[in-house]
Amino acid sequence: MTGLQELLLSRIRDVADYPEPGVMFKDITPLLADPEAFTALTDALAGIAKDTGATKVVGLEARGFILGAPVAVRAGLGFIPVRKAGKLPGATLSQAYDLEYGSAEIEIHAEDLAAGDRVLVVDDVLATGGTAEASLQLIRRAGAAVAGVAVLMELGFLPGRARLEPALDGAPLQAL
Ligand code: PRP
Repeated sequence: MTGLQELLLSRIRDVADYPEPGVMFKDITPLLADPEAFTALTDALAGIAKDTGATKVVGLEARGFILGAPVAVRAGLGFIPVRKAGKLPGATLSQAYDLEYGSAEIEIHAEDLAAGDRVLVVDDVLATGGTAEASLQLIRRAGAAVAGVAVLMELGFLPGRARLEPALDGAPLQAL
């Protein structure tokens, strides 16, 4: 394990039985409250943005906003929010996706992306991969290319990486 990984892991709090019994929630608020850890995370994600040649950063509501916005600023790139349905005021593209029980829908302002853009998606957790997969579909439908997906954590006991692979179409998925 690298020094960065040790630092980040030490600032992630396990909360048992949240939001429901049997779930171990990964709480990143201690990491956000620690300027050394938050800066190290931001720098590492900004490095991925540069390495992948990204021209824009997309953050996934809500924790992807907290992580993605400083990454965009640090990398000198624009930031675009992918929001839960009904929250964006302009013309949107919408993408529905399956959850374990039921479905969800996310949206983007397509006008914020241009044909030449290469987009890095930033989020805190890759779990089932459904949210990230839907975001890649939105980016492509908006006419932009996918530079990659960068997350703080990947839950390796779930098949998120395998689910995301077709949508990545060769672009990298990096979990710190
Ligand atoms: C969590 C997490 C990711 C997503 C990962 O967000 O922050 O965005 O779920 O899950 P998946 O890989 O199974 O799609 P959540 O939907 O809880 O939204 P929030 O950040 O607004 O609480």
